[in-house]
Amino acid sequence: MQKQAQEQTLWGHPKGLYILFFTELWERFSYYGMRAILILYLTAKTTDKNAGLGWDDVSALELYGWYTMFVYMLSVPGGLLADRLLGQKKTVMLGGFLLVFGHVILAFDSLLAFYTGLVFIVLGVGALKPNISTMVGGLYNTGDAKRDTGFIIFYIGINIGAFTAPLIVGYVGEVLNWHYGFGLAGLGMILGQIVYIWGQKYLTNVGNFVPVVRDKKTNKAVPLTPIEKDRMIVLVLSFIIIMVFWGAYEQGGGLLNLFAKNKIDRVMFGVTIPTSFLQALKAFFVVILGVPIAWLWTQWRKTGKESSSLFKMGIGTIVIGFGFLLLAKAALETSVTFDGKASIYWMIGAYLLFVIGELSISPVALSFITKLAPIKYASLMMGTYFLVSGLGNKLAGLVGEAAQSAGEYTIFIGVLVFCVSFGLLLIVFVKKLNKLTHGAEDVNE
Ligand code: PHE
Repeated sequence: MQKQAQEQTLWGHPKGLYILFFTELWERFSYYGMRAILILYLTAKTTDKNAGLGWDDVSALELYGWYTMFVYMLSVPGGLLADRLLGQKKTVMLGGFLLVFGHVILAFDSLLAFYTGLVFIVLGVGALKPNISTMVGGLYNTGDAKRDTGFIIFYIGINIGAFTAPLIVGYVGEVLNWHYGFGLAGLGMILGQIVYIWGQKYLTNVGNFVPVVRDKKTNKAVPLTPIEKDRMIVLVLSFIIIMVFWGAYEQGGGLLNLFAKNKIDRVMFGVTIPTSFLQALKAFFVVILGVPIAWLWTQWRKTGKESSSLFKMGIGTIVIGFGFLLLAKAALETSVTFDGKASIYWMIGAYLLFVIGELSISPVALSFITKLAPIKYASLMMGTYFLVSGLGNKLAGLVGEAAQSAGEYTIFIGVLVFCVSFGLLLIVFVKKLNKLTHGAEDVNE
């Protein structure tokens, strides 16, 4: 018999996964591409050949900070909209249209268009990002061991977008014209939206609106069961580690970016590597290491050792901590070298550890949320995850600021100690916390 389109698989995964993969790849391409040139456009002089808005650095950084925070904060109402009204699939569609409009309007050279574009992008990401992630989970049945691998594949898509966009959009925007750059990001989003619309036939069973179950007599929403409540508690606790992790990881865009620019000898094989290139390195590592790391975790699970999501998150936090050990070594080296600069290999090694940590936390957390959240709060919990990650970004900014007075070495050692202690704490309590999940992670082989 002919299988229904949504049940067809490709390389062992539902075809819908690849639709969500490409939609999110293009959404991230547009997001990271636009973000890569935003601050440059704001600060470029109005008299330049490729004229910008002529803002000073402080105002530009301020807008950038607000913008990146709002983008993820809006995930909470975006999640609620899906849970209460539209379901995830339609909310993603809506988000996609808002994003297309937002990005395209940025291609026009007017201040009104600029602000309107930003507002639409913030709303669009809020509607799309959490809900598309929840939909990935919806493709797998409870207990399907493939779910975690599905999320790794999805995460690789995110990072193909994140890796290529700053290079391509960055080049077009910076060298040719800012608005061409914005337009190119818009074109990416249009492609994403076309894939999503075309792929609806593979998504018929996922992301549909589920009405809240009501008690027949009282007509009140049925409250959560004790098991569901326990699971919510574990989720909320796991959000603490998520915030710590992103607080460390996102030093990459701020403090470490400046550190690389000022204190790292970026000459490799006679060529000077641009600072921004190091930013693309992490996404590149995700793309090449995603599959090997997923494989390693699967092998580890097969040996019967502890391999729950919370355990992986603990390990990921410890690993990123050790990334800061390498950075601390680099900071020490700057005080003894002749030119006050440290070798770039410390930085590359650190980013490698950052990404091994990221792959043990970020796709794992997305998958974990889809296993644990009660259905009526599925998207809201995902939205909260993005909110918490946004707060982690803010925390990273504060740590970066603190480094301006405390010095990099002290901060790097501080982050190392903090991350390793937090990770160990989680691992010590992992068995107790896992009890509260009531077997949500059990897999049927
Ligand atoms: N690479 C991730 C992404 O773009 C980074 C991220 C993590 C963003 C958590 C938001 C929240 O999806």
